[in-house]
Amino acid sequence: MKMTKVQTGGKLYIAGEYAVLTPGQTAIIKNIPIHMTAVVKENSTIKLSSDMFDYSATMSEDKNYALIQASVQTLADYLGKSIDELVPFSLEITGKMERDGKKFGIGSSGSVTVLTLKALSAFYDLNLSADLLFKLASYTLLKLGDNGSMGDIACIAYDDLVAFTSFDRQKVSTWIATEDIKTVLAKDWEYQIEVIKPALSCEFLVGWTKQPSISKDMINLVKSAISEEFLTETEQQVQTCKKALLSGDKEKIKSALQNVSDLLLSLSSAIYIDKLKDLKAAEEGLDVIAKSSGSGGGDCGIAISFDSNDTKELITRWQNLGIELLDLEKLS
Ligand code: PMV
Ligand code: MG
Repeated sequence: MKMTKVQTGGKLYIAGEYAVLTPGQTAIIKNIPIHMTAVVKENSTIKLSSDMFDYSATMSEDKNYALIQASVQTLADYLGKSIDELVPFSLEITGKMERDGKKFGIGSSGSVTVLTLKALSAFYDLNLSADLLFKLASYTLLKLGDNGSMGDIACIAYDDLVAFTSFDRQKVSTWIATEDIKTVLAKDWEYQIEVIKPALSCEFLVGWTKQPSISKDMINLVKSAISEEFLTETEQQVQTCKKALLSGDKEKIKSALQNVSDLLLSLSSAIYIDKLKDLKAAEEGLDVIAKSSGSGGGDCGIAISFDSNDTKELITRWQNLGIELLDLEKLS
């Protein structure tokens, strides 16, 4: 019997959050090696299961399974088939990105969309590229009315550190509503995804506040505060940070991340909640730069450390503040 198993990881923003919601702006986003797994097997009917829920679903409407079902539908549309024409399968998803019922906030909805598409791509031997996975997953989320930039999808589809320059989602949504999927996919959406290989050795840390934050609500709360000035200044710092990562310029990385952090701090008081202020303040006196990540308001913050003793000290400080280390890895 045919069986395939695939995984997707998480993501966290390093720089460019909120600005990247505006087309043409760039964000730097890091893949996080905390994984979700999908197992697909031949089955007599389509059966969908996720360890998030205590029951399985079919393709009949189900709120909890809507994202997985929409991803299956996208793949069927892409293949030019109806759901009934697909070779039926069971899809089993495991790896909740949460602990004690609290989500980590590293992109589980983006990850599950990419995961479902990747799993079916493997099951049907389609060999979809990371770029096509990105387009198909973005297509699925835009159809569902997601209000994100799709930067999370870019990072998760490429499973790497990326610089993502966003596309005009309104324009693509109009295409989706008026044209068939093949035509939409064949068009140039005018985004850019560049894999970044940092040229210096440093450590990347993720601190979890254990306070869940909902990006969709944060976006609605903050978006009216996004000004031209915020966009221009953020883009400048993001480009500086990207170049500094590529050339291995430690001081420039630190100052660029400090500047984007300050820009977020003044964008909205909802971003740097106390736990995230603590997480950042813990960098003091260390060869470390820390900041909030993504929408803020809870979830995770990140840090880049250029000294392994300082890394240890930062972890101890975070621990004392009730901030849990979710990931520690070499950035290159
Ligand atoms: O909180 P996260 O990791 O989902 O990141 C949100 C980043 C935003 O720029 C605020 C929104 C987006 O989709 O780009
Ligand atoms: Mg978040």
